[in-house]
Amino acid sequence: MRTLRFILAEYRANLGWFVAGMAALLAGSVCQTIVPIYIKLAVDAASPEGFKQQEGIAGEWALKLLPMRPEANMDFVLLALGMVLTLSLLLGVFTFAKRFYLIRISRRTEYSLKKRMYTHLQNQPSAWFDNTRSGGIMSLMTSDVEAVRMMIGPAVMYIGGTIFLFPASLLIMFSLNQLLTWLALIPLVGLTAATLWFNPRVRKYSLRSQEDLEQLSARAQENFAGARVVKAFSREEFEISELHKQGETYLHNKLGAARNQALFQSCIWGFSGVGVLIILYFGAIEISAGRFSTGDFAAFILYNLGLYWPMIALGWVTMLFVRAAASLKRIDALLLSEPDPSRVPGGETPERIEGEVVFENVSMRYAPDLPLALEGVSFKVAPGRTLGIVGQVGSGKSTIAALLLRLASPTGGRILVDNKPIDSYDPHALRRFIGYVPQDSFLFSDTIASNIGLALGAGPVAAERSQIGADAHVPDRDAIIHNAVKTAEFEEEVLSLPKGYDTMLGERGVNLSGGQKQRASIARALAGKPTILVLDDCMSAVDTDTEERILRNLKSETREITTLIIAQRISTVAHADEIIVLDHGRITERGTDSELRAAGGLYADLAKRQELAAELA
Ligand SMILES: Nc1ncnc2c1ncn2[C@@H]1O[C@H](COP(=O)(O)OP(=O)(O)OP(=O)(O)O)[C@@H](O)[C@H]1O
Ligand SMILES: [Mg+2]
Repeated sequence: MRTLRFILAEYRANLGWFVAGMAALLAGSVCQTIVPIYIKLAVDAASPEGFKQQEGIAGEWALKLLPMRPEANMDFVLLALGMVLTLSLLLGVFTFAKRFYLIRISRRTEYSLKKRMYTHLQNQPSAWFDNTRSGGIMSLMTSDVEAVRMMIGPAVMYIGGTIFLFPASLLIMFSLNQLLTWLALIPLVGLTAATLWFNPRVRKYSLRSQEDLEQLSARAQENFAGARVVKAFSREEFEISELHKQGETYLHNKLGAARNQALFQSCIWGFSGVGVLIILYFGAIEISAGRFSTGDFAAFILYNLGLYWPMIALGWVTMLFVRAAASLKRIDALLLSEPDPSRVPGGETPERIEGEVVFENVSMRYAPDLPLALEGVSFKVAPGRTLGIVGQVGSGKSTIAALLLRLASPTGGRILVDNKPIDSYDPHALRRFIGYVPQDSFLFSDTIASNIGLALGAGPVAAERSQIGADAHVPDRDAIIHNAVKTAEFEEEVLSLPKGYDTMLGERGVNLSGGQKQRASIARALAGKPTILVLDDCMSAVDTDTEERILRNLKSETREITTLIIAQRISTVAHADEIIVLDHGRITERGTDSELRAAGGLYADLAKRQELAAELA
């Protein structure tokens, strides 16, 4: 259990607080245990028969703490009540210290656990995210961590109190009157049976509802993210009914837990009522027989209640533990998942690179049971040269980009940058030299400037938000961003927006058009001043005129940049120094635009068809 070890380490790191909290807990419990004794003394001092004898360990100890001998007068009553008040005030102080120190540890552990999980999540390979729902991750970070926190904070606190209170109460009760104690224990047998009956049921329903909630949030999250698709396909009613269905099982399980909890509560009151009744009846007999004082009687009733509370707390605490165990298992599964090997720091961190890219007989399979996405792919792009990559959908073009960026690892062959295998470089160091325009131009809900300046460290908005990273502000940041935007032919549109570069984007950049997002994404890659530029089908939503202008800008701007340009459109790659044509993961044709047109293969075919379509348009 990696998570458990982590929690124990947190306890060790906060040992001082833990000891202080536990000491306060113990001191508080002692106060709580002594209070009824002074109540007993006060009652006895006020009752007509006065003090007969002081029986039991409790009475003896209580008297030792008082400056005067017991007398049946009002002075002694007031003195005893003064003790009650003092002890209650002390109890208040200890309760504060106990809660503050113990809850503090649980909150700190929650914080570091979340930090640890978030770091681990950031280091997961992209394939891991392919197979994990983000709603599930969110519930892991929220409700599962919360369940663990409840265990290390409140549960530990209540157990600590219970462990002391129960035996102490029982001991004092026995010292006051043995027979009555045995009788008072009878209803506790019933309560134990009720605990054993109801608690597993409450646990079962609680665990189920916890799982339901996870599924519910995952579904809702995905739905909101895909709100446009839901609306476009008029799926609102369907989605509502699906969510209602899931909501109903959640409700069913929650109600199941509530029903069992309610029944258990009734049992507690019922059994404790019976307990009080037994004490009242037999207590009266004992009093009239002169074996029990009125004060003893009052104290006895109070101690009797002290037996019930631990029983109740124990049921609740076991539920917290079971819930936490389930959550710990889930968190463990995350923390034990292998980190992305390409994110493990280490390796060469070059100051600069030339930008030569070589694929040597590269093969790639996303999973053992999937066909090869790439098979024996070899090519070489000299520094500053451009390679065009075309091919049908699913032919493996984006896979080449993913491999170069180490977002995935090849199954066979080698990838070299500047004649060295890419895994000999520190992944971050290598990625700093690569400008990547992904096929789906994901933008963050931040300003346009911050989005485009992503490679330049935190922008003003992000820096202000996080209140750190302001020092990462690149001095000529604005100039770099403006220049990149100009190259991407995006400037005119940015400036026409009311807030220009400071325009806030919606989630995923929803308030931009497809073509605008693509150009923002190109500008973002250029702003990083890359040595290698990877453009993955990033002009599909841009009209051909604009595309031509962007390509022309890129050509003059990127004379020194090695460029891999992936496209469906022949016009996008026509100027490349070499073009490869992929078909089912294999290179089937290669050459320059004119060579490939002359060869009369797939490329020539595509070119002819696209030109015809353009003419018709
Ligand atoms: N993350 C993934 N997990 C499993 N299989 C994948 C993954 N990504 C791609 N594939 C598969 O690998 C093959 C190549 O995909 P790739 O994305 O490289 O194609 P592409 O040439 O870029 O296609 P397109 O032109 O549609 O973008 C496809 O058969 C695809 O289904
Ligand atoms: Mg692709």
